[in-house]
Amino acid sequence: MRSVLSYPVRGKWGKSDYRGNCSGYVILDLLKFYKPQKFLEVFAGGGTGYEVAKELGFTNSVHLDLNPQWGGWNALKDEVPVSTDLIFSHPPYFDMVVYSGQVWGEAHDDDLSRALSYQDYIDKLDRVNIKLMNSLRVGGRLAILIGDYRRNAKYYSIIKDMNYPGTLESHIIKLQHNVASGRYQYRGRFVPIVHEHLLIFRKTTR
Ligand SMILES: C[S@@+](CC[C@H](N)C(=O)[O-])C[C@H]1O[C@@H](n2cnc3c(N)ncnc32)[C@H](O)[C@@H]1O
Repeated sequence: MRSVLSYPVRGKWGKSDYRGNCSGYVILDLLKFYKPQKFLEVFAGGGTGYEVAKELGFTNSVHLDLNPQWGGWNALKDEVPVSTDLIFSHPPYFDMVVYSGQVWGEAHDDDLSRALSYQDYIDKLDRVNIKLMNSLRVGGRLAILIGDYRRNAKYYSIIKDMNYPGTLESHIIKLQHNVASGRYQYRGRFVPIVHEHLLIFRKTTR
């Protein structure tokens, strides 16, 4: 892996029509690079990580989401059921895509994409990140894929506003392909966002 990732095609893994899904190549690269003995994916969504892990022969990986399809695991209220040496986390980017009640099922109060405000979202994300970090084995890593976004001409940098839950080991830029904002021609000096951040935190002590 290098500090810039670019996958022009998203790959075959998971549901490509699950809104806000990610390319399976990110997860494939993480698993091949870090070679975890046990792998946990939270915010499993359209099953991208599940299918990548299955293809790589992981028989003990765990995939969780509030979406009832993945057992309705609630990142805010439920314990992390396993201790692993790699967690891949791809949370909602606040309300860029609203999940419960729109992508699946009924509206759920603890859906991070339904947080009451941006600050409420950041506070909740911080709580989840600490919980995930605490669940890791010493030496393990938490990889968080997260984007920036604009709403009503205001720029939100989630990676600037969130607390870092441990030692930042790598900050990787992932280029986005085929995003709507990259396709349009905008008037004025508008810079479309065509990248996301993959932050890798390492748990160094108990
Ligand atoms: C960006 S999507 C993940 C997409 C996934 N990586 C994929 O490729 O399909 C974010 C996910 O977070 C889930 N989610 C939102 N709030 C949650 C919570 N409190 N606990 C667990 N999952 C939650 C949503 O159901 C949604 O599936």
